[in-house]
This record gives sequence, structure tokens and C-alpha cells, in this order.
Amino acid sequence: MGSDLQSHLARLDDASLKDLAAARLSETLSACGWYVNLSRQYLDAEADQALLAFAGSQNVGGAIKALFDGEHVNTSEDRPAMHWALRLPPGRETGFAEEIRASLDPALAFADKVRDGDVLPSIETVLHIGIGGSDLGPRLLHDAFVQSYGGKIGVRFASNIDPLDLERALDGLNPRTTLVIGISKSFSTQETKYNLDRARDWLKKTVGANWPKHLAIVTANPGRANDWLGIESDQLFDMPESIGGRFSLWSAGSLSCMIAFGTDWFRALLKGANDMDTHVRTSPLVYNMALRLALIDYWNMTLRNVDAEMVLAYANALRLLPAYLQQLLLESNGKQVAPDGSPAPAPSIVGHWGGEGTIGQHSYHQWLHQGSSHVAAEFVIAATPGSEPKGTSALIAHALAQAEVLANGYKLEDINENEPDIDPAIANQKVIPGGKPSMIFACRDFGPEALGALIALYEHRVFLGGVLWGVNSFDQWGVERGKVQAGRILEALGGSEAASDPVTRDMVDYFR
Ligand code: F6P
Repeated sequence: MGSDLQSHLARLDDASLKDLAAARLSETLSACGWYVNLSRQYLDAEADQALLAFAGSQNVGGAIKALFDGEHVNTSEDRPAMHWALRLPPGRETGFAEEIRASLDPALAFADKVRDGDVLPSIETVLHIGIGGSDLGPRLLHDAFVQSYGGKIGVRFASNIDPLDLERALDGLNPRTTLVIGISKSFSTQETKYNLDRARDWLKKTVGANWPKHLAIVTANPGRANDWLGIESDQLFDMPESIGGRFSLWSAGSLSCMIAFGTDWFRALLKGANDMDTHVRTSPLVYNMALRLALIDYWNMTLRNVDAEMVLAYANALRLLPAYLQQLLLESNGKQVAPDGSPAPAPSIVGHWGGEGTIGQHSYHQWLHQGSSHVAAEFVIAATPGSEPKGTSALIAHALAQAEVLANGYKLEDINENEPDIDPAIANQKVIPGGKPSMIFACRDFGPEALGALIALYEHRVFLGGVLWGVNSFDQWGVERGKVQAGRILEALGGSEAASDPVTRDMVDYFR
């Protein structure tokens, strides 16, 4: 962790955030359509340098090279992490990277065929069935751009095993004009298999023998998919094993959005991400936006022990961004064991949550401003060109105001000056402590390229954060045990065996 960092931590511990920010106004970075203001942090030039030195000691430069050289950075699964290759321009690289990029081509071609009516005469809806990384990314992309790029083909999503989820998605759909797309890298996820079984039955009952034409599958396990299909389908698309589920929105996993919005839109998304890859790959560390964010995460979460990181999306188009980032950030770095099996050297990422601004201001912002938790925040402000200016300006003003009040608070002396006759008991209840750090991400020209760049930025922030925390950001062993236990408890609910845990046993008895 570096005793040097500890000494800077102690030196800055009771500094005024407002004063530190005033001295750090130059701490802003620009890349790929995003302007990021990092001034409001408990840092100064010396501490920034110490963090960069720490990054050097963790061989961050070597890690970036290893990622883009296709080395097996996912050590526990002995795989590379090749999500960046999906957004390469065709032919930019050769070998394995180009092979991964080319895995997109059949899906792009299929999307064009569906849109041209060459697969089925008239498709009105795509039903996207998947969960986790096979759902959250495409759902975010769809929600962000359905207004601006949507056309005659709509998309519905079903992910949960609660039967109501699929029922809602199927409600009112005509199977004859519906294309079901199942996304599952493993093709073994219980929720997705359950929903695909029900969707296929729904198709068989209506379109009969033509049901395979109404079904496409994206997976890294075509054998399992063909076994399930029971036929050899030409509507089976590849999601390479070297693409992590939560890093897969760049892959054929987003086929539903390619169909709904067209492939030019998707290529713009890829271009934005590739531009950010180039920024991360080539920038000097001090200007590397992803590294600077990862270093601030390390500083706030490991050294300053913040309780939570708030992702506040001040853009209706990005209202699903916090939920998407929860998987990307927390499934990647929510770990405490290093790749060699030893305890990770330091506490890693804290819980991230948040939501859409300004809506949160009428909900949990009271807690943000006057609660006893130690939070840090990040504001993502995206203005879409051509949006109604009055509302957009008000949205921006609210975001900037919230960040300012989180940092500067509302002091008792100001309250007494503004309300000279106020009851002291009330005045104290109006005090806002402030001192809460935040980052501000701003984009004035929001579109698919900007979103591609932003998501790629977070992906690299996650990877470099894992390097700093000493964890593997690309596996997810923690989610497996629950699935095994669920299978056993399902048996208990069916009466075939007793649940092993006494509390679970009590609850099984209640539901049986
Ligand atoms: O269980 C967690 C997880 O494996 C995620 O990492 C993944 O995105 C999701 O489940 C869905 O997995 P699949 O795409 O294999 O169905």
C-alpha cells in the first residue's frame, strides 16, 4: 500500500475539501468527448504524485500492455480478456485479435438481413432473453437510444426466473412477428434456460414447425445450444470464451440492439470505445483517464475508507447506467483474494449504487447530504444535442449544485446569516457537513460514440483498479456457490430432501 501514501493520507486528513479543490482546478482530463473534473478530492499535487508512483510500483504500464497483447490476464480461468478486440476497426490488427473482432461479422450481417425482411417477412419485436452481462448491457444500450435510433422493430427484455418477468415481456406480442434471441455465454444459466424453454413453447404453439426461424442464440457453447435446439440452426452466433460476460455488450450479445437500431449505430458505439482504448493504450500515465480514476478509487475506498460510491446519472438516457456499472465494477473487483491465492494486500472496491438525477434528489440525497455515512460520488452529465435547452440547463444546474453542496456543505454561520431569527435547534438541523468528494463526467454531445467511450473508460478503470487492489477482475467465483445451494433448496421445496440449514428449513416449510 506504500507508507508514503499513508503519510499523505495523514497530512491531508483534516484538510478542507473546498480549499483542496480550489488548489486542484487544473485536475481535469478530456478524452473521446468526455470532460472529467477530478478537483474535488482529498488530494494535492504531492499526493497525486505519490499515487502515480504507487501505480508505477504496481506495474500498471505492464498490465495495460498485457491486456492489449492478449496475455492471459484472467489467470484463474487461464484466458485473455479480449473485449477490446471486438471494437477494433476491421483489419487493424491480425491474428487472434482480428479473429475475435471478426466474430461480430455474422451477427452484424444477420441484423441487416432481419431489418431487410430477409429472415422473416415482418418482424415487429425482438424478445431478448438473458441475464447479468447478457442482459444489463443491451438493456442499457436499448434504453439509451430507443428514442433517437429506434424504428419499426421494438425490443423487449426478460431476465428473471420469476415467471412474471417473461409474462410481462410476452404480453400482447404476436409470435408471428416476434424474433426471440437467447443470450447466454455458458448456455447453462438456469434463468435463461427456463425463459428460453417457455419462449420456445410459446413459439411452437403458434408458428408451428417454423419456430426455429423465430429463434436466434448467442453463446460460447454452441454444442449445448444445438442440443437444446434439437436442430442445426444457422441462427447461432458466437460469443468468444475470451469475452467476459460483463464485458460482452460489444459482442453478438447486443444482437437485439443491432436489429432494432441498425448496424451503423452499433459501429459508432464500437468506434467510441476503440477511441477510448487508444487513449488508455497510449496516454502517459498522468493523463490516462482510466488510471487516474482507478487511483482515486484506491485512495477513497482503500485508504480513506468511504462506505459507498454513488453513481448519479444526470441524463434520462443513462438511467440504467448505475445498474449496469454495478455488475461491471462489483462482479469484477468485489474480491479479497489475490490471483496466487493469498489474501489481497488491501481492502478493495466498496458498494456502488445510485440512480437517475434529478430523481435521487427527491429520495436518497437527504442521506447523501446529512447522513452519517462516508460517501463519495460521481456525476455523469450527458447533454444530447437538440434537447430542449431549458430542461437540459436545469438538469446540468442541479447536478453541479449537488456536487457543490456535497463538497462545501451549508455551514451554521451561513444559516444564521441567511436566517438571523432562526431557532438554534432548527439551525443545527439545517447544517450540511459537506466534505464529500465527487468526480464530474460531462459530455455535451451525447450519442453512441460517447456512450461507447464512457463504457470502455469504466472497463479500463475496473481493470486498472484490479491491478492496484491485486485482484483478478475477470473471474467471478463468488456467484457460483449460491447457484449450487439454490439447486439443493429447490429439491427441498419439492420435498425430496431436507434443507441443510435450519433457517432455510424453516422457510422451506413455510413455502411448501
Ligand atoms: O452468474 C454470473 C454470470 O455468470 C455473469 O458473470 C454473467 O454475465 C451472467 O451470469 C450470465 O451468464 P451467461 O451469459 O453464461 O448466461
